[in-house]
Amino acid sequence: MEEQFKKLFTPLQVGNVIIPNRIFMSNAAHRFYSGTAAPNERVRYYYEARAKGGAGLIITGPHYPSPLTTSGSPTAYQDDSVVPILKKQADTIHQYGTKVFAQLGHPGNYITGRGAGGGSTWGSSPTWRRNLFAPGWQEIAHEMDVDEIKRFVRDYGTAARRIKEAGYDGIEIMSMVGLLHAQFLSPAMNTRTDEYGGSMENRMRFLLETIDSIREAVGPDFVVGVRFTADDFIDRVWWTENHGNTLDDTKEIAKKLEATGKLDYLFPCATAYGPAHVPPMNYPLAPFIYLTAAIKEVVSLPVFGNGRINDPILAEKILADNQADMIGVTRGLIADPEFPNKTRENRLEEIRKCIACNEGCTGGHYPRLPLCCALNVEAGRENDFVITPADKKKRVMVIGGGAAGLETARVAALRGHKVSLYEEHDALAPELLLAAKSPGREGFDDAARYYTYQMNLLGVDVHLDTTITSDMVLEQDNDAVVVAVGAIHSIPEIPGTESGSVNVVEMRQVLREEVESGQNIVVADYENHLYGLDIADFLANKDKKVELFNESVFVGGIVDYHTIHVAYTSVLSKGVTITPLTAIKEINGNKVIVYNLLTNAEREIEGVDTVVVCTDGAGNDSLYHSLKGKVKGLYRVGQCVSPRRMLDSIFDGYKVGRAL
Ligand SMILES: Cc1cc2nc3c(=O)[nH]c(=O)nc-3n(C[C@H](O)[C@H](O)[C@H](O)COP(=O)(O)O)c2cc1C
Ligand code: SF4
Repeated sequence: MEEQFKKLFTPLQVGNVIIPNRIFMSNAAHRFYSGTAAPNERVRYYYEARAKGGAGLIITGPHYPSPLTTSGSPTAYQDDSVVPILKKQADTIHQYGTKVFAQLGHPGNYITGRGAGGGSTWGSSPTWRRNLFAPGWQEIAHEMDVDEIKRFVRDYGTAARRIKEAGYDGIEIMSMVGLLHAQFLSPAMNTRTDEYGGSMENRMRFLLETIDSIREAVGPDFVVGVRFTADDFIDRVWWTENHGNTLDDTKEIAKKLEATGKLDYLFPCATAYGPAHVPPMNYPLAPFIYLTAAIKEVVSLPVFGNGRINDPILAEKILADNQADMIGVTRGLIADPEFPNKTRENRLEEIRKCIACNEGCTGGHYPRLPLCCALNVEAGRENDFVITPADKKKRVMVIGGGAAGLETARVAALRGHKVSLYEEHDALAPELLLAAKSPGREGFDDAARYYTYQMNLLGVDVHLDTTITSDMVLEQDNDAVVVAVGAIHSIPEIPGTESGSVNVVEMRQVLREEVESGQNIVVADYENHLYGLDIADFLANKDKKVELFNESVFVGGIVDYHTIHVAYTSVLSKGVTITPLTAIKEINGNKVIVYNLLTNAEREIEGVDTVVVCTDGAGNDSLYHSLKGKVKGLYRVGQCVSPRRMLDSIFDGYKVGRAL
């Protein structure tokens, strides 16, 4: 093992700090703070779990350094009272040998002024950050004047001094993905004509002054690094002729940053806005490591790389290929804090790989919910949710081997219960395996694999191809019975279906390839998550002509804005037509008649072969009700309670597993 992951577990010197291994957690705004509070105990426990799990470095934050910060997030760096709180956090992380840096930065116009408690947003220029799928965050910034810039620069120095006093090992300046410093760097966002705009030298001035201010505050022996965008991916905006920085431009920026002699590492990343910053499942693994490698070629400072690296073998290969010096496994550590230890101990199959679903972590970003993880219920609840051995070992019967049943069985078995699990299909996690059939959703296979392995590891007695009736339950003598049989997916009645020649099917039938769908297809999406887009993509991949209808203003309105961006791009590029605010009225012959929900205006679509209906269905609760009052310790979890997301099923399973 030592040999297989030799590079991953080789320490790295960054400035005067020796990081014990190459696995780091880059900053991921966790939203555990309330109001303008300082880091709290919840944050400390969250980071402690990742340090304990063996990460070499954790970058905390984001820490907004200035009272001028309009962000709605912690502005705790406004006075020295934060120092002892941060010190406690740093001391906790250090107990495990893990190093800790703080990310200092300002969101600029990534957010709205009003949403952040009043005032305007800040920016290099009166431009906005394109948030296509978070339109509420699209607000023109006020152009910072030179006094304001100087004030920010001073505040960064003061905040840096506090970070150092708190015993942190370093500071990272957040200058990426269209946030404040990145807005100054980018010719597409910075349209100023003073000494902070125009030439590359001028656009870099704010960042360079910030580096000077921080360096002056912390002295020469403290680590300072910069996270910056290595390619803005902006060709066109409406307010200027300028395009964004390309990789060629940012190579020059990287060289100039190194030439300051004031930095200890660089951390390039992708994009000024859009999905590449937190690459969702519909990206391949490590999609932007080429940017890291390209920057690494032109500088000699250590270069950090990341982005959808969820596998130790891939991480080791990136290091072996000299594409990066440190590997970010941020969501990987949210999903499994023990990723580094399990890798070191060659327990690779035990790793609960992040599947890049973005449901819990970034999914809560726009609605401003605290970070959580679809697969790891304990993420962000480390102090409240702990699995402890059960006082009394019980015989537990779990009926249903989907996500909810599997999580119940996993947690119950971990607590020492004797668990039997029954699944009517021939494989565990059938819904996840089905979801994985759509293009770009293959990541769900990893979740199914994880659970299958866990059942074996924990000695759960698994029975496949077994349909359980209430009589069968009553014949057994269990201490607890957990019903996890999922939802029923029937097809809503569409008037005229029988008379017409249009085949009406449920989306799962299509994914299972049980039905012949013909060439011209209408997808009626009553679900508003990803299934409509997924099935449209699945069919478009087979060269079908697809029109997708949805009752909302846009399809997938409740999906995280990175995932939905890629899903839209995929289906639109394959010629799928998306029509919002529309539902099916009736079928007439080979015509489908649809109407607009606001105006009632009707339209006829001719020559339709198949209508594919996507619904959440309804909870399958008949088994539960037939057992109620007849067995002791009866529970139900997941979609059979009510159809929700995978995240909710796993949450239900965890909670009941812990309660048994
Ligand atoms: C919930 C969430 C919040 C994030 N917030 C930040 C942030 O404040 N600053 C930052 O530099 N990156 C942020 N990121 C991006 C991560 O640092 C990282 O680049 C991204 O998750 C991709 O890496 P991964 O695939 O290893 O998770 C965030 C990511 C997530 C999931
Ligand atoms: S919610 Fe999904 S993407 Fe986020 S950390 Fe968990 S598994 Fe990964």
